Amino acid sequence: HTYDGISTPPMGWNTWNKYGCHINEQLIKDTADMIVNNGYRDAGYAYLNLDDCWQSYDRTPDGYIIVDSDAFPNGINHVADYVHGRGLKFGLYSSAGRQTCAGRMASSGFEIQDAETYANMGVDYLKYDNCNYEEGISAKVRYESMAKAINATGRRIFLSVCSWGTENTWEWASRYGHSFRTHDDIYNDWKSIVEILNVHATVVPRSGPGKWADPDMLEIGNGKLTLDESRTHFSIWAAMKAPLILGNNLNDMSRDLYDIVTNRNVIAVNQDPLGLPAKRLVHIPYDRDIWAGELVNQSMVLVLINFMDRRQTFTIDIKQYNYTGLDVTVVDLWKNETVDLKKNRYIEGQVIEPHGVAMFKLLNGTIIRQEEDIDRTTP
Ligand code: GLA
Repeated sequence: HTYDGISTPPMGWNTWNKYGCHINEQLIKDTADMIVNNGYRDAGYAYLNLDDCWQSYDRTPDGYIIVDSDAFPNGINHVADYVHGRGLKFGLYSSAGRQTCAGRMASSGFEIQDAETYANMGVDYLKYDNCNYEEGISAKVRYESMAKAINATGRRIFLSVCSWGTENTWEWASRYGHSFRTHDDIYNDWKSIVEILNVHATVVPRSGPGKWADPDMLEIGNGKLTLDESRTHFSIWAAMKAPLILGNNLNDMSRDLYDIVTNRNVIAVNQDPLGLPAKRLVHIPYDRDIWAGELVNQSMVLVLINFMDRRQTFTIDIKQYNYTGLDVTVVDLWKNETVDLKKNRYIEGQVIEPHGVAMFKLLNGTIIRQEEDIDRTTP
């Protein structure tokens, strides 16, 4: 596994959702240690990314971004070295505008110089936001400038286009970056997750290797979502092939939450070599969703979400979701056990808690191709 974030979605940790602008050198070092010592790196979390506020509000007279020296007294190279020393990759943040979203110094007009700075700092991942830009310059132009500047450095840097869906980002972002944000910020609430799913249901067909649709970073562990909601959040992000970027205090993680974000079965779905996002096949507002996605070797993932505030019991006919065979095996990925399949097609009596999820892998059968899946561009 290369963990480059390009052939399969990137996995890592980012400062923003939990810490906002309250970041510093010690937090980064402690987090790097926790990612390694607590097994996150082994589970696949490869990037440690600083979001907004590592910069000050200024440049030097010769145009270099000045680091916030209260937060990072030893500079950014120092923390980047520390992160690399722990066997992780290092990420930074800027904006395709004059200032970042928090008003710090950003890269518009200084793309070449800043890209060189980032490369010299050892950056492997750049989240490039869309705040405080000059009116009249399109997002495409602004992102293209940074993409070219990064290429010119010769360093391999994952470019996360954080354009919030501006100018139908899904139509052009993959020309410049490796992932694209599809909407405004996630917030730490179940409602936000439901809203994001409604956007992604229409965007996932545009997503794939090297051009991941980005529903924003995870809110698991930030104290608001229930365990069931957290499991749903992680399951559907994994199945949509979203970047899995944690955004919480890793030092303040219950065993249950830890088990969610390090679940090998679910991460394997996210990191499946085909890189095909699951699609929403059933949507009954306030009631349920069913998503299905193809995995390698003619296997399939099914995700069933209960939006109701009460428990529901489901029976699923796998044939209805395009899977068939006389020898199909069904694995419940969260329970990590095989489930009986009745009459070669029914998964019966699945009890799902309020806002909870069930996630199954179907194997040893075949996917029934749908008309819309047939690629007409191939001669
Ligand atoms: C925007 C982005 C967030 C975060 C903040 C930082 O709102 O969408 O993910 O990076 O800026 O200011």
